[in-house]
Amino acid sequence: MPTLSAVPAFELNVALRCRRDRRSDPGGEATRHAQQTRHAQQTDMSKQGDHSETSETARGAFAGSYHAPVLVGAVARRLVTDPAGTYVDATLGGGGHAAALLETLAPEGRVVGIDRDPEALAAARDRLAEAQEAGRFVAVRGNFARLASLVEAHAPGGGPVDGVLLDLGVSSHQIDAARRGFSFRKDGPLDMRMDREGGRRTAAQVVNDWPEDDLKQLLYDYGEEGRAPQIARAVCEARPLRGTGALAEAVRSAVIPPDETKTLARVFQALRIAVNGELEALEAALHALPGALKAGGRTAVISYHSLEDRRAKRFLRHGHFESTPVRDLYGHRIAPLETTDGSPFTADEDEIQRNARARSARLRVAARRDDDAVDEWRKRVGGGS
Ligand SMILES: C[S@@+](CC[C@H](N)C(=O)[O-])C[C@H]1O[C@@H](n2cnc3c(N)ncnc32)[C@H](O)[C@@H]1O
Repeated sequence: MPTLSAVPAFELNVALRCRRDRRSDPGGEATRHAQQTRHAQQTDMSKQGDHSETSETARGAFAGSYHAPVLVGAVARRLVTDPAGTYVDATLGGGGHAAALLETLAPEGRVVGIDRDPEALAAARDRLAEAQEAGRFVAVRGNFARLASLVEAHAPGGGPVDGVLLDLGVSSHQIDAARRGFSFRKDGPLDMRMDREGGRRTAAQVVNDWPEDDLKQLLYDYGEEGRAPQIARAVCEARPLRGTGALAEAVRSAVIPPDETKTLARVFQALRIAVNGELEALEAALHALPGALKAGGRTAVISYHSLEDRRAKRFLRHGHFESTPVRDLYGHRIAPLETTDGSPFTADEDEIQRNARARSARLRVAARRDDDAVDEWRKRVGGGS
């Protein structure tokens, strides 16, 4: 039976940081933001279920499509600085944002799309076949945790590029396909891997093999779930769990009825994050941005919950994952990026009415600073190559 030592070291680091975040900022910015985001998510969830698991009704006009992208206009407007440049969509999904970028760009402009899910690549290639034939678009299978090497291998001239988009989390298609195991609304296998050939553990391994204490910690850290002990106990008592339906049933047995949907959303989110190493991949991609972008090039990061957004906010502001900036002897900030005015951007009511997923989306945009600033950051803070 695996113990904590069987949990990959990166997950322990990420989990420890989650705990440190809470301790080092009691009642402070991070806590307030987490509370606000939690409140926003709970408000969402009471209307639509999981913030990523939108119901057919909530998806409305987009039901049946691969994925309805959020904040499309804002992303294209704020990310593109050179219409003839090269842009990386590191979370290609169904290609909605990539299509908008291609429309915004001049004929010489290019988009390199990356996704770890082969189903996303197939959908995007289909949608963007014309651009692909014209040499303006290429779809590449990969994990954005390896952003530096993906840019080097697939961007013209090996990069750097003019912009990088990260639209985090899972697509509606991944949630809607019961066989992928992301949904607590439909019975399916306990899988949850975005990339099923990646050799990662499945959700079944986590819920059936992990010690109760590790499961409890996972629910606290990645689900911010207050009833983690009761749920971990119920899951262990219900073993072996064979599908998402059985897992949802075990979770329901440990919660008080009005909170069921919110709790299920948090439990499934926590498992999904662990199965896919989502926070570790995000941190690695953020670290790689200063090396992947040209000076003045931009990044746009869309997050859907506070664990993602806190990391994006801190890195885009400070070049590391703590809450305060690093300064030199003269008080100058040492950071590789500069957030643009107005970040974070959120969807307006009109978009939220059309696409409920937009309610919890936060878009942060930052520009890469000049080479001297990036070199100084590399020397003093470390990170990105
Ligand atoms: C919210 S969807 C993106 C939707 C996309 N913007 C669109 O317009 O359709 C997130 C996508 O990112 C992919 N993804 C998540 N983590 C990834 C990672 N570490 N590396 C590569 N792709 C990832 C998922 O497979 C999913 O297709």
